[in-house]
Amino acid sequence: MRKYLTRSLAMIGVAALLTLSTACSNEREGETTAGTGTGSAAPAKGFAADALIGVALPSKTSENWVLAGDLFTNGLKEAGFQSDVQYAGASTTVADQQAQISAMVTKGAKVIVIGATDAAQLSTQVAQAKQAGAVVIAYDRLIVNTADVDYYIAFDNFKVGQLQGQALLDGMKAKKPEGPWTVELFSGSPDDNNSGVFFNGAMDVLKPLIDKGDVVVGSGQTDIKQTAIQGWKAENAQQRMDSLLTSTYNGSKTLDGVLSPNDTLARAIITSVKSAGKDIPVVTGQDSEVESVKSIMAGEQYSTINKDTRKLVAETVNMVKSLQAGNAPTINDTNSYDNGSKVVPAYLLPPVIVTKDNAAESYANDPKLAPLTQQ
Ligand code: BGC
Repeated sequence: MRKYLTRSLAMIGVAALLTLSTACSNEREGETTAGTGTGSAAPAKGFAADALIGVALPSKTSENWVLAGDLFTNGLKEAGFQSDVQYAGASTTVADQQAQISAMVTKGAKVIVIGATDAAQLSTQVAQAKQAGAVVIAYDRLIVNTADVDYYIAFDNFKVGQLQGQALLDGMKAKKPEGPWTVELFSGSPDDNNSGVFFNGAMDVLKPLIDKGDVVVGSGQTDIKQTAIQGWKAENAQQRMDSLLTSTYNGSKTLDGVLSPNDTLARAIITSVKSAGKDIPVVTGQDSEVESVKSIMAGEQYSTINKDTRKLVAETVNMVKSLQAGNAPTINDTNSYDNGSKVVPAYLLPPVIVTKDNAAESYANDPKLAPLTQQ
């Protein structure tokens, strides 16, 4: 049961997701691309070994995006390509990204890799790319409601959500073996397709316990529209947590855990709880950001997810190399990511849950994070 939906489907929520039953296939299946014309899959032709590759990233809403820019610039250069790596600005993100993609098409990019700032606002630009004969790869975030996306490459986002839901439970049980446990739920920005997928993954684990009454959402806010944090912004998460504390936890009620979809929001939630003078609940996260790994080692944030950006970028560059040579890139999922217009062939990497217990092992080969785990 893993149909990962368009944003609109994601917004319908968990109940809808649970009714979608599609077997998960792990077979590796090739696809030919280098298509010409909207939505068509023409035979692979390959292109010049020093062709221009465009990379359009969203604004720097978390460390993984900051890392990705340099990794793409260097990785594509090493592979012999020219590159044009752009970030959407901090405020006019959608218009910026649309203009950047159009400019890449005009400059003749053969592949355009896109980390969408708004999943549903790029159909015109990807249609332009396809008409110009470029291959479109959705990177980390799916682009929805268009047939003009050739491939999707990401860590398995539904799995990320499941791991977060499970970590929340494990963390709470470790502190207080018997339920019921009182929690609050947070989700990411509504314009990012991943937000619904993470949330639905987490609810896949939590919902049965909520239904049984073992897990209680103190505020009663379980709808993704109530839990969403616009723009993935720390200040918005902090504000929501501040109001939840005032509305629901100003008496003797204890908050045992908070489902946070990423590290930036986790730290904002922890800041809010600390300034209210409350005990820090079990808070999940994602991205292995430096400050969150420090917080985990200090016993504050409970968990994060290791989605090694170096691996994701390297695999994306491999995809580009295959396309350049006229070969079908490696795909390992042809079922899960229906974007509303087609099921996008995907290459998914496995995410890893990290708590204080396995941090040293998880980051052993990461020169930036490994030293933080030495105790
Ligand atoms: C990414 C997360 C990230 C979030 C905010 C998501 O699409 O998958 O890793 O935390 O965007 O930048």
